[in-house]
Amino acid sequence: MTRTPRENFHDLSNAVGGILVGAELGERRSKADDDRATFATLASGARRAAELMAALRPAIAAASEPVQSDVARDDAYIESLSSKLSPLLQRTKVECERDSIPLLDVASARLLALLVSLAKPRDILELGTANGYSALWMAQAFDGASIVTVEPDNGRAVTARALFAEAGVAERIEIVERPALAVIADLGDRRFDIVFIDAVKTEYADYLEAVLPNVRTGGLVVADNLVWSHRASTVPSNDDDPATVGIRRFNARFLSHPSLRAVILPVGDGIGVGVKTG
Ligand code: DHB
Ligand code: MG
Repeated sequence: MTRTPRENFHDLSNAVGGILVGAELGERRSKADDDRATFATLASGARRAAELMAALRPAIAAASEPVQSDVARDDAYIESLSSKLSPLLQRTKVECERDSIPLLDVASARLLALLVSLAKPRDILELGTANGYSALWMAQAFDGASIVTVEPDNGRAVTARALFAEAGVAERIEIVERPALAVIADLGDRRFDIVFIDAVKTEYADYLEAVLPNVRTGGLVVADNLVWSHRASTVPSNDDDPATVGIRRFNARFLSHPSLRAVILPVGDGIGVGVKTG
């Protein structure tokens, strides 16, 4: 268990206090002059330590406060100025958090919705529906969009289907309950204006290669979780989990792909946006 600076400081104070009490007692009780002098030196050192610790107390208190990173504060500031989520999106977000279902960070969701309203896509393919939160953001960003969203987990698909019905967008969203790579393999000559990748992290690079033929020229490939909670940028090691390795493999390919002009933005958990150039 890690101890806070405040806890360590508290124990150190007690230890120094104990030394001072012992030294003062020894000084008073010593019969021999040289013993008394030794205890006096000890007591004086303990008093000096206590003074120095008193001077350090404010810094220790500050170090024990939970710190909000500059990035988290910026995010909270921007969010505080942004329009409120619709009640349905807000409720879905809370349900995902309650049930530990991964969902898009709100800043990423706002960016994704903005891209959809800008691109006015007729056809969107989403890999990884989860509870339907991101698909609902996209559906509400442009009502001319039809979405195919892929979710092999039946429980999640059922929840998402109910959400789309409640939101009045069910007729524009098809949920395909199969693994993403199998769905892509069966796309044939169907073309999409936006593909949003948010499914199995170890498969991201394979999704990209497999799906690019089904993206219209000028269409977008958007991908979530490209910084992967700061793990993608750590120094690679043999102990890295497969998802981190998969995200790194995707990122390298995404940013150097001959058919894409792509960027990765440090928004939310890292959002990639690529335009298919040919
Ligand atoms: C996870 C997956 C996601 O797509 C996400 O946005 C956050 C977390 C996950 O698998 O842990
Ligand atoms: Mg995600």
